[in-house]
Amino acid sequence: MTNWNEIHRLATTWVKEAGERIKASFSEELTIATKSHRNDLVTDMDKGTEQFLIGKIHDHFPSHRILSEEGFGDDFADVGGIIWVIDPIDGTMNFIHQQRNFAISIGIFHEGVGKVGMIYDVVHDEMYHTISGEGAYMNDTKLKPLTKGEVKDAIIGINATWVTSNKRIDPSYLAPLVKDARGTRSYGSAALEMAYVASGRLDAYISLRLAPWDYGGGMILINEVGGKTTNLKGEALMITPQTSVFVARPGVHEEILQQYLNSGNW
Ligand code: IPD
Ligand code: CA
Ligand code: CA
Ligand code: CA
Repeated sequence: MTNWNEIHRLATTWVKEAGERIKASFSEELTIATKSHRNDLVTDMDKGTEQFLIGKIHDHFPSHRILSEEGFGDDFADVGGIIWVIDPIDGTMNFIHQQRNFAISIGIFHEGVGKVGMIYDVVHDEMYHTISGEGAYMNDTKLKPLTKGEVKDAIIGINATWVTSNKRIDPSYLAPLVKDARGTRSYGSAALEMAYVASGRLDAYISLRLAPWDYGGGMILINEVGGKTTNLKGEALMITPQTSVFVARPGVHEEILQQYLNSGNW
């Protein structure tokens, strides 16, 4: 029998240690490189953090597989067994430019089902975490089940990209939502924005394109507190190479899906 409590305990320890290493790097010069384009950044700390976490997992759980952003994980297409979905630094641009508003994100899945979710806001020392079925927490404070809400009272996490002309969505879908909502925010870290939905700081978060390491930890947290985790079509989120992501508290999710996304061809 898999001991999820022990996996959660070890993951927490490793993620906190990784966070200390990241904070210690603030006083040192970063090596910054670009990936697919000039704003797609990666640093030696993204890579070092991923290698650090993978090293620990390999030592303790050699049979577990790893899906991670910077290329030190495994290469596979199925979701069998236990898979750690890791984003060593989510919000790399913030890490480089602001030294805040970034997180370490981990989602641990068994046969494709989320079991342990963990998002660590390193600078604020805020650890959002859950073992599925046992409640979700921010540090030691239990997160409350999400109550039903409405768009007119909602703060929505959304990147301005999705309401300007872009290749993935006609801005006419989401611009009315931006107008009707109480407010919008864009923090630059999908994982943190999902942790904020789980803790009620945001009422929804929408992105047209994310990779599993961006949302893996967050979807487990949000599911645990009764939020809805889907793509823009309203289909349940799963670990897939890339997908749109739409997460929200109950009520807000249905309202956005029906009133704003209904006629879209996603
Ligand atoms: C990015 C952040 C950002 C989101 C991007 C992601 P990274 O992750 O989550 O908020 O808009 O789509 O790629 O590259 O900083 O790990
Ligand atoms: Ca990246
Ligand atoms: Ca990311
Ligand atoms: Ca990253």
